Amino acid sequence: MHHPWPDELLRVPHRRDVPFAKLTTLGVGGTCQWLFEPTDEKEAATFLRACHKEGLPYRVLGMGSNLVILGDVAIPVLRLRFPAELKRHGNLISAPASFGHIRLSQQAAEMGLSGMEYAAGIPGSVGGALRMNAGAYGAELIDVLDTFRFLTPEGELIEKKPTPGEFKYRWSFFAEVQAVATAMTVKLAEGDRDTIKAQVAVNMEKRGTSQPLSKRNAGCIFKNPTGASAGRLIDQAGLKGLRVGDAEVSPEHGNFLVNLGKASASDFAELMDTVRAKVKEVHGVDLEPEVEIWRNASPVAGSL
Ligand code: EPU
Repeated sequence: MHHPWPDELLRVPHRRDVPFAKLTTLGVGGTCQWLFEPTDEKEAATFLRACHKEGLPYRVLGMGSNLVILGDVAIPVLRLRFPAELKRHGNLISAPASFGHIRLSQQAAEMGLSGMEYAAGIPGSVGGALRMNAGAYGAELIDVLDTFRFLTPEGELIEKKPTPGEFKYRWSFFAEVQAVATAMTVKLAEGDRDTIKAQVAVNMEKRGTSQPLSKRNAGCIFKNPTGASAGRLIDQAGLKGLRVGDAEVSPEHGNFLVNLGKASASDFAELMDTVRAKVKEVHGVDLEPEVEIWRNASPVAGSL
């Protein structure tokens, strides 16, 4: 069969034509034409080396919880699928990047280890959390991060302790380089198991009361402008309940644009554009997306 990619790349486990509806929490999008799912760091390194050698562009997908897909993606997509196992040494827990962030906070609580409670209610993978230094309620990942591992774009594996400047408020150096986080170790404190579990439950519940978490969503769609709340601005512009096809401005929280079932990429794009235009008209404010957006992506000409 004719295929566009080098043999080295095709040695990495992969699937063809996977609908993004299955790969993102929002469930909007087109098709992921080439989904590469390495099961360990070695296979992930093979993927990166092959792309680097050929100069191929690629994208990295985590749990797809902060992502809006607006079309098909024809370039290789990398999604780590490492065994979902935690390793514990005393107060240290190591987790693969593909492990669930919320699940890690629940497992740490079960072990009677404190420090990951903030993560309860922040969806996504450990890799995604590392990439954006996820946080809430005055705590963030960097507070507990002991060491982390990543692959460089050339496929070299590096393990290191965080150094000043690498992690800031909802930002890490991963935003600037194409490196792929593969694992992290957090240093927690021993505590009372029931107290930690209760805090995890409280944090989980806080989100659920104001946000439409029972609908397919990608979290908050727009960033809060300085000194304002995007949700409130959208609400005050009278946009709650506005629909384009199955894409809806949630009646519960204005900054949640949800998929009621079969919203298409164009429905969703149109709803986002309408919300931005209306908020600009009513409040004079330009809303910027908070989610990552992937539009149609084809391999660059000449790379095939
Ligand atoms: N509000 C309204 N109408 C609405 C929504 C909100 O009047 O439709 C008002 C609320 O009553 C409140 C204010 O706006 O007075 C702020 O709303 P909220 O407390 O829900 O917080 P937010 O600023 O909308 C932020 C984060 C959320 C995070 C919550 C809770 C951003 C853009 N949003 O939301 O993050 O879950 O605080 O910590 O930073 C996300 O990152 O995906 C996300 C949802």
